[in-house]
Amino acid sequence: MKKHWWHKATIYQIYPKSYMDSNGDGIGDLKGITSKLDYLEKLGITAIWLSPVYQSPMDDNGYDISDYEDIADIFGNMVDMEELLDEANARGINIVMDLVVNHTSDEHAWFVEARDVPNSPKRDYYIWRDQPNNLTSAFSGSAWEYDEASGQYYLHLFSKKQPDLNWENEEVRQKVYDMMNFWIDKGIGGFRMDVIDLIGKLPDQEITGNGPKLHDYLKEMNQATFGKHDLLTVGETWGATPDIAKQYSNPDNQELSMVFQFEHIGLQHKPDAPKWEFEEELDVPKLKEIFAKWQTELGLGQGWNSLFWDNHDLPRALSNWGDSGEYRVKSAKALAIVLHLMRGTPYIYQGDEIGMINYPFKDLSDVQDIESLNYAKEALENGKSMEEVMDSIRMIGRDNARTPMQWDATEHGGFTTGTPWLQSNPSYKTINVEAALADPDSIFYTYQKLVALRKEQDWLVDADFELVETVDKVVAYKRIAPDATYLVVMNFSGQVQDFDVVVAAVETVISNTDEAKAIADRKLQPWDAFCVKVTD
Ligand code: GLC
Ligand code: CA
Repeated sequence: MKKHWWHKATIYQIYPKSYMDSNGDGIGDLKGITSKLDYLEKLGITAIWLSPVYQSPMDDNGYDISDYEDIADIFGNMVDMEELLDEANARGINIVMDLVVNHTSDEHAWFVEARDVPNSPKRDYYIWRDQPNNLTSAFSGSAWEYDEASGQYYLHLFSKKQPDLNWENEEVRQKVYDMMNFWIDKGIGGFRMDVIDLIGKLPDQEITGNGPKLHDYLKEMNQATFGKHDLLTVGETWGATPDIAKQYSNPDNQELSMVFQFEHIGLQHKPDAPKWEFEEELDVPKLKEIFAKWQTELGLGQGWNSLFWDNHDLPRALSNWGDSGEYRVKSAKALAIVLHLMRGTPYIYQGDEIGMINYPFKDLSDVQDIESLNYAKEALENGKSMEEVMDSIRMIGRDNARTPMQWDATEHGGFTTGTPWLQSNPSYKTINVEAALADPDSIFYTYQKLVALRKEQDWLVDADFELVETVDKVVAYKRIAPDATYLVVMNFSGQVQDFDVVVAAVETVISNTDEAKAIADRKLQPWDAFCVKVTD
């Protein structure tokens, strides 16, 4: 298998609005990010996935783009962007841009012309119909919005300010490729492709994900843009199965480096229920099954995994699946260890490296996210109580991940000297970067070590994966390389668990506990996690 830089990379996701505010307007910006590159260099990450910073009316915090080749005023300007690129590259950090091309903003010049001049060629850049069908928006309600002037409806699979592009239109595709090349020429490290599995949609047949032309478009895009460069490309693909993921990421297919699949994330919700119907407790046996399936089915050279617990669309895994109380530090390290030692490219979401937690939303006045607000409106209309709605938002709402990064114990966690656009999590007084850096036992240093291991240890890429049989709440797997075997173990609970595996450990790779004692006692203490090189 041809090796690429991203096989040994760890990616760090930044949500620009919430990372660091450089000018006191309460909104994170590019200069703020640049000012934190030394911190990221210390963490050791290889690339930043930058959530959208393009010109946008910010209906969906930048996932509604009105100009792909300009920077949103709130984030700075192109000079700031070039400075960020230069400064990052100087530290060996690539910048992976978010590519949002399933839809634009309704304020993009293409859509404005399409709507205002119905006989313009731009009309066909979007999807217009005389009658709506049953398609619904991911942000609640119908996916069709009526346009009074022309008497037609346009499709928006997200907010009505995010009209879907018509990928069947060749000119649309060419314009997107030109724009991608514009960014590639600026020296970026790749693209994270927003809801890319939707671009092959057939709206009239109510097919949205994995439409018939999807892979043709991606092959065409690869050839027209990043295929000639060594870039990281990762598609956001909610419905991907291992077979579908292989289609995208098998190197022979010349499509993408990898995709984000969300099967494990599905365990947050009741089976086959809407995302807001959350599960109180994680089904650990099911999680193990899912890990094992993806690790073994995407064999070396056949495809490549992305490894992540959360992102800007998800609550903090530490709060929902770890322990944000007594065992916060230990469970955060455990989650990191068990994830990062699998095969794939790990993604750290900003703040996970210091153990940031969900926000205690009191009521809707604490909430900014369009998805949560639309959900609340619809759920209340349908008879849910405000308490039920708030429970769902506290557990699942996207703003949990979007509260400002916690830098120190000063007001607003040192994120801004002004008033933050979204309130800081009150936990900043104890959970912050300054405190983490000062404590050699902090979560930060576990992440730092995992990132370093990823660069140094070839077995993390090459070794096979084998799930080890254990009691329900223990996750254990082996990574088997020709010359060595590694055992990774995690107690996914706050209780002592039996650990009946005979282990002859020869070397500790990483640990959050006294692993020798755990192995000798055949007992794991709450949230124990470690990796040891073993003799068999
Ligand atoms: C993706 C993004 C999400 C956004 C949506 C529409 O799921 O991650 O934040 O709201 O696409 O662009
Ligand atoms: Ca700012």
